[in-house]
Amino acid sequence: MRLRILGTAAGGGLPQWNCACPGCARARAAGPRAWRTQECLAVSVSPDAWYLVNASPDDRAQILAAPGLAPPDGTRHTPLRGVLLTDGELDHTAGLLALREGAALDLYAPPAVLDALDGPFPLRTLLAPYGSARWHAVGSGPGEDALLLDGGRLRVTPVPVSDKRPRYASGTVAPGPWVVAYRFDDTATGGAAVYAPSLARWPDTLDAALAGADCLILDGTFWSEDEMGGARAMGHLPVDGPGGTLVRLRDHQDVRCLYTHLNNTNPLADPASPERTALVGTPVEVPSDGMEIEL
Ligand code: MLT
Ligand code: MN
Ligand code: ZN
Repeated sequence: MRLRILGTAAGGGLPQWNCACPGCARARAAGPRAWRTQECLAVSVSPDAWYLVNASPDDRAQILAAPGLAPPDGTRHTPLRGVLLTDGELDHTAGLLALREGAALDLYAPPAVLDALDGPFPLRTLLAPYGSARWHAVGSGPGEDALLLDGGRLRVTPVPVSDKRPRYASGTVAPGPWVVAYRFDDTATGGAAVYAPSLARWPDTLDAALAGADCLILDGTFWSEDEMGGARAMGHLPVDGPGGTLVRLRDHQDVRCLYTHLNNTNPLADPASPERTALVGTPVEVPSDGMEIEL
């Protein structure tokens, strides 16, 4: 299984277009090689079939930067087969608008998110005339079967996480889950990875999903509770502090852990910060955009 971490920033990216906070100013001064695009992952178990997890507003540039996602020579064809949505946030869904020129895609999301994309953010209605998107509901119940993709070799198991709904859907009453994580198993190599970029809480089912996993890519939006007026109020467990994700990772010392969805306030985004250097020698990493992992 090949994972390509296409983007590693929270909504807005790093630097954010309208911001000169210390993190954005540092990134702007360092130049484009230090920049982070909005969070997105690509997963594949065979070269001619890739799946995105989330569709970031930066997905066009992310796909262009990924050699494995290029169309084969002389063709108008894409190895992109589908997109799995962890939730309905704008920074995870708006990029679907940029994929409308492609072939039919299979699109997966929890039922509440499918409803929201028919209602307050009517992406499904907007995209319908442009191609044959096939929408599928996932993650609606604990006993739900895993998806078998790419001829059955790639097993995808949704893990319900929380009922945090996008701001545009705050008035809707659909039952959750609104946010899921995904476990990916390559049934040929035995490699397993869990992708959990939005953790308003740490469900017990996430610990269970990490059993035997090689790698976890998780929500690193905020380093501390006191960023942006409260990490938890924004729907993200902070990395540091009591109940933060670093403490939870101590139960999973044998799993390679990579933080993604970094907000521009998070000192982990700065390679020279003391918070970042303290991670050296631990199983916890902060990837750059474009990092690939083979499992
Ligand atoms: C989030 O990650 O909390 C959301 O993407 C925030 C937002 O942009 O509305
Ligand atoms: Mn976000
Ligand atoms: Zn900023």
